[in-house]
Amino acid sequence: MERVRLYREHKYLTTVLFDACTEFGKADLRNQAEQVGLMDKITGVRSLLESHGNYEETRIHTRLAARGSEAHRLADGEHERDLKALDSILEKIKHCGDSLSHAHQVYLEFRKFVAEVLLHLDYEETVMLPKLQELYSDDELRLIDKESYEQMDAGQMIDMLQVLFPSLNADDKEFFIDELHHAAPGFLKRNDSTQDS
Ligand SMILES: [Fe+2]
Ligand SMILES: [Fe+2]
Repeated sequence: MERVRLYREHKYLTTVLFDACTEFGKADLRNQAEQVGLMDKITGVRSLLESHGNYEETRIHTRLAARGSEAHRLADGEHERDLKALDSILEKIKHCGDSLSHAHQVYLEFRKFVAEVLLHLDYEETVMLPKLQELYSDDELRLIDKESYEQMDAGQMIDMLQVLFPSLNADDKEFFIDELHHAAPGFLKRNDSTQDS
């Protein structure tokens, strides 16, 4: 039987990282509006990675530590590394001036950063997830996100699905709908009754 599979939101993270990399590749940093637009986009990537990393450290890494695993230690350090790397990249974009070669060097640095984050996501899904599945039952794994879903109202749940869905396949979508339904059994019904009235 298939086990509960966490980290499905990594597909959305991957979409955001690829999009930022594509935008960086197209940007002319001699143009101030393009420079500011790119910095805004990369600042958004930073915020997303920071909140995602904090969530993992408080909800997932603590659970691994609680059952004696060290599998999260590497990922902890990489979260901090990634934020510092983006701060450095943002500074360099700001000071590119009119130098095309400097701009290209920073682009290469960002592209390498994306590659490193992808390896981080891979580590979480191929090393940490099997460890979690070994140490915790499916019901226990479901509790990790349930604690968050229980604090969300219907609007926040819909917002979350709208953000994630374009990056997900049918199985992932069904998983999130099921998890939300289990966390807040009235969620779907409430929306049905709203449509009726
Ligand atoms: Fe992570
Ligand atoms: Fe992650």
